[in-house]
Amino acid sequence: MKTIVHIVGTGTIGEPLIGLFTDFRDRMGVDEVTFHKRTPLASDKSRLEHLMSRGALLATDSDRVEDFERLGHKVSMTHEEALARATVVIDCTPAGNQHKEMYQALDGPRGFLAQGSEFGFGKPYARGVNDEALIAGKDNFLQIVSCNTHNITTLIRTLCHEGSDEYSLEKGVFVCMRRANDITQEGGFIPAPSVGKHDDPRFGTHHARDAHSLFTTLDRDFDLFSSAVKLNTQYMHSIWFQLGFTRDITHEEILERLKANARVAVTDKKHANVVFSFGRDHGYYGRILSQTVVVLPTLQVRGRELYGFCFTPQDGNSLLSSVAGALWMIDPDWEGVRERLSPIRRWLYTEI
Ligand SMILES: NC(=O)c1ccc[n+]([C@@H]2O[C@H](COP(=O)([O-])OP(=O)(O)OC[C@H]3O[C@@H](n4cnc5c(N)ncnc54)[C@H](OP(=O)(O)O)[C@@H]3O)[C@@H](O)[C@H]2O)c1
Repeated sequence: MKTIVHIVGTGTIGEPLIGLFTDFRDRMGVDEVTFHKRTPLASDKSRLEHLMSRGALLATDSDRVEDFERLGHKVSMTHEEALARATVVIDCTPAGNQHKEMYQALDGPRGFLAQGSEFGFGKPYARGVNDEALIAGKDNFLQIVSCNTHNITTLIRTLCHEGSDEYSLEKGVFVCMRRANDITQEGGFIPAPSVGKHDDPRFGTHHARDAHSLFTTLDRDFDLFSSAVKLNTQYMHSIWFQLGFTRDITHEEILERLKANARVAVTDKKHANVVFSFGRDHGYYGRILSQTVVVLPTLQVRGRELYGFCFTPQDGNSLLSSVAGALWMIDPDWEGVRERLSPIRRWLYTEI
């Protein structure tokens, strides 16, 4: 039996993920990488051809095969066939929840993953935050949490986890300053900062709600609150945070903890564009895979409270968790997953 990863969607998150699995499939123990593209577009031709030249196989819906072939693409199979052959399916569309019923009817794949917008698709997961919550044979549906949820939950896990089930978090408050759109996107840019309303009576915005939901998989019920504002930039999301602790903390201890986590990057750079361009110069597909980039000069301890800013490596952190989650579904042995992740570890920067 071949081990096959099938990726649905070729957008901002799908494309680099297809690239990652294709480039490193041998070292990850994957035999074949297939992907589904829905819409045949001449403007997408060059990037699809590049993925296929590296070994990824194109699948599309049966009624679109001819359209793709007319564009000059080699269609290797229909989407139906690709789903039936797949060992694991990673949905990278904003329609994962719509597709769930179709996935549930399949008996071939061992598991399915969807992305940040698809709340409720499956158990929320972020690499290194709640690995121990995944149950082999039971958690066949995972939701890879959004980029900002990765950032928030990684901060809490890194700074407040006291070992075993203990956390020293009293309360966490976050202001998510989001970029208007991704550099790959044509629409959605805004002319000026645009504030979001608090539509969740307990959590403010979905960012704190999603982070809370992830920690419920570890039986934690944290007091979290978030606000959001969209900024007229295409660079990285930034987060202002305030963490309240149940014990005394020191600046030195905070630094030690941040530096001890291989999935946390720290930086002295205060401008998002400079951190972003570090990713362009030293990343994979321009991405760093770290979960958060904490800006050291902004950290301030006041009594039992910590204040600071961090940047969110937008899709990089979701890519890492998508790969880790898929490898776990293929073989749910975390030591083995760690080993199979080794080819991409070089893009987990601890200092930027
Ligand atoms: N962008 C980020 O930074 C980021 C970060 C973390 C998580 N995510 C999450 O990743 C998911 C995808 O976001 P994205 O930014 O990658 O989106 P995107 O760039 O707009 O790409 C979406 C892709 O999904 C395909 N698609 C859309 N609707 C579909 C449907 N009903 N059936 C089949 N294919 C469909 C599109 O195919 P066609 O173009 O061929 O029609 C396209 O390839 C979302 O859940 C998002 O929350 C995004």
